[in-house]
Amino acid sequence: MNKKWWKEAVVYQIYWRSFFDSDGDGYGDLRGVIKKLDYVKKLGVDVIWLNPFYQSPDRDNGYDISDYYGIMEKAGDMAAFDELIHEIHQRGMKVIMDLVVNHTSDQHPWFMESRSSQNNSKRDWYIWKDPKDGREPNNWRSYFAPSCWEWDKATGQYYYHSFAVEQPDLNWENPELRQEIYKMMRFWLDKGIDGFRMDVINLLAKKEDLSDAENPYNISYLANNPGIHDYLKEMHREVLQHYDVMTVGEIPFVSPEEGLLYVDESRNELNTLFHFQVADEMPVLDMLRFKEIQTSWHEGLKQKGWNSQFLNNHDHTRQVTRYGNDGQYRIQSAKLLAAMIHTLPGTPYIYQGEEIGMTGVRFDSINDYNDIAMKNKYNEEVAKGRDPEEVFESILLLSRDNSRTPMQWSSSSQAGFTAGEPWIKVNPNFKEINAKAALEDSDSVYYFYQKLIELRKQNEVMVYGDYKDLLPDDEHLYVYTRSYNDVTWLIVLNHDDEQQRFTFNGFNNRKLILTNYKRDFEENEEVLHPHEARIYKIN
Ligand code: GLC
Repeated sequence: MNKKWWKEAVVYQIYWRSFFDSDGDGYGDLRGVIKKLDYVKKLGVDVIWLNPFYQSPDRDNGYDISDYYGIMEKAGDMAAFDELIHEIHQRGMKVIMDLVVNHTSDQHPWFMESRSSQNNSKRDWYIWKDPKDGREPNNWRSYFAPSCWEWDKATGQYYYHSFAVEQPDLNWENPELRQEIYKMMRFWLDKGIDGFRMDVINLLAKKEDLSDAENPYNISYLANNPGIHDYLKEMHREVLQHYDVMTVGEIPFVSPEEGLLYVDESRNELNTLFHFQVADEMPVLDMLRFKEIQTSWHEGLKQKGWNSQFLNNHDHTRQVTRYGNDGQYRIQSAKLLAAMIHTLPGTPYIYQGEEIGMTGVRFDSINDYNDIAMKNKYNEEVAKGRDPEEVFESILLLSRDNSRTPMQWSSSSQAGFTAGEPWIKVNPNFKEINAKAALEDSDSVYYFYQKLIELRKQNEVMVYGDYKDLLPDDEHLYVYTRSYNDVTWLIVLNHDDEQQRFTFNGFNNRKLILTNYKRDFEENEEVLHPHEARIYKIN
């Protein structure tokens, strides 16, 4: 496998609006990120991924863009951005930006022109269809709405939106539009960014056959349609190949076989991807299925393409709440999940706050939430006559706001995030869980991440090593090896709230490198405490 910087990197995701507010308006901002760069650097990460800060009416927290060349006022201005990339590079880190080109805001001038009349020159930049029998062209749903079609009374056609009504999809069949996007990508790359996280990039091509879906709730018809690989190859040829950059595609609804088509190094499309087999299938952890997924992706991409490892981000509930134990064993569990992400094959992603073991949140009322996906779902279900309390309860665990509450910097007012009123409430547990406390405790989750990242830097086996699951049928213990040249590492993880036993048959010559418990092995090394994680080197 070719060695590449982005394979060896650890990425830290900054959801800037919830990171640090430098001017007291209640929103995090780019200057706030600059203020906290030393904190990020100290962790040891190599790359920062910034969520979108382009100009936007902000209906979907920046994923509804009205000007690709402008900066949202809440985030700052172009001078702040230029300073930010300079400061990141100064510290020897790189920065990747969100690229959101499946859709724009309905306030983007392109869409305003497009909807102005059927024969406007930009009509074809979006997807317009005539009604069928006086209604929507078909029964397809969108991610955030009951239909992916929105009626435009003035011009008598429907437009297509994979997400909210305010996010019309661009028509990638139009070559002029594609060139305009490539030009915009070059603009940011020429400013010196080091790559893109590409928002729902496998949705660009649309299905031509508009017949009704058998089950409209399975919205996989929105993705992976014919033509998608031609667009990505063209994007690579026209733009990406001219820069030494990293690209990671957000690619829902793919198996390893389909995923490989996006990241196979010989195909010149993307470097790596986020697939959603774990996130989509598991509201809570299913260890056996999780292992199957890891093995199938490892085997599927082996020697050909590169994976990514993440368990949460701004769209997915915090990992220690969703997949671990955020109560009695929060610290051990947060460390175990960290050990797993950093030792499985693929580039690891840390979502801000994960490194101090931040948890999901539970507010009292729907009015305390902001997430457009959650709110639209709530309104849709309540409109059907369902009990509002029951609907509320049912959507809490996966609400995207679980991971969007402000970064907890200290135990002072608003967790030290803002001097004003935060745009979304702070998680009430900030007095106990915060970065200041973590930095003062040498045994904290933060320093465990720091050690893992350092280990990964110094040991290629963690990056390039082959992967083998030793206990595919065990529901609690996850035990695997990574091997590279003549080096073998053994990773032993007990995900359970109870003790578990592992006999080290065949691994007699082992040396413990890292663990999340202070252990005296004269007790019994075969017994693993609840949420204990160990990394061994085998001689
Ligand atoms: C991606 C983003 C999500 C956004 C959606 C629409 O899934 O991660 O936050 O709402 O795309 O752009």
